Amino acid sequence: MAAPQTQIVTIDGPAGAGKSTVAKQVAAALSLAYLDTGAMYRALTLKAIRQDVNLEDEDALVVLAGQTTIDLENHASSVKVLLDEEDVSEAIRTIEVTNKTFYVARAPRVRAIMVEWQRAIGEKKGVVVEGRDVGTVVFPQATNKFYLDADLTERSRRRIEELRAKGNDVDADKLTAELEERDNKDKTRSVGPLKKADDAVVIDSTHLSIDEVVQEMLKAIKKDG
Ligand code: C5P
Repeated sequence: MAAPQTQIVTIDGPAGAGKSTVAKQVAAALSLAYLDTGAMYRALTLKAIRQDVNLEDEDALVVLAGQTTIDLENHASSVKVLLDEEDVSEAIRTIEVTNKTFYVARAPRVRAIMVEWQRAIGEKKGVVVEGRDVGTVVFPQATNKFYLDADLTERSRRRIEELRAKGNDVDADKLTAELEERDNKDKTRSVGPLKKADDAVVIDSTHLSIDEVVQEMLKAIKKDG
């Protein structure tokens, strides 16, 4: 008899749609691990910036990835991102890292390494995984797939609120433009672009609370289970 398939729930979507918050809560409700694939792209970008690696040089990025370990630790109330054992959970969220991650994300051979790391985690345990290509490329066989979207204005409002709550001085128009530019880059790159998987359930969170999105996902998962 075939071994039962590990439960894998994928959530793709643009920045600010609420993927992280929702994914953590769905993971907790189903006793699954939470996997933030964006954190991996961000962590490698941070290392490249620190080591002054040319972000346009794919060969150099591949070498760097080969010398890097990224671990994502799930704790009861937080998730720790470890870059070569250093806790970089906060350091990967700066505006500089956010705006430079596309260099790492657009490099096909770097993506191949990231996908391998992500699959290795998903093979070991059930996960709720969020990103841009997790339902299309990383886990096409996932048990449940979601595409979480929201209007640009609402996503931008959420990001501004989040950054201001952390004490950042935010230029709202600039942030909205950066968010839109990031979406465009994510949607148009040649490998692993942001795209809805054919079999994904689409949820528009523009007018929904976090809890409403979580409940909708849990309902869809239960219905399929
Ligand atoms: O999800 P987050 O906003 O932290 O992701 C940061 C960036 O990492 C995205 O804008 C995207 O360029 C890249 N990314 C990706 N593929 C993923 C997850 C993130 O290319 N699966």
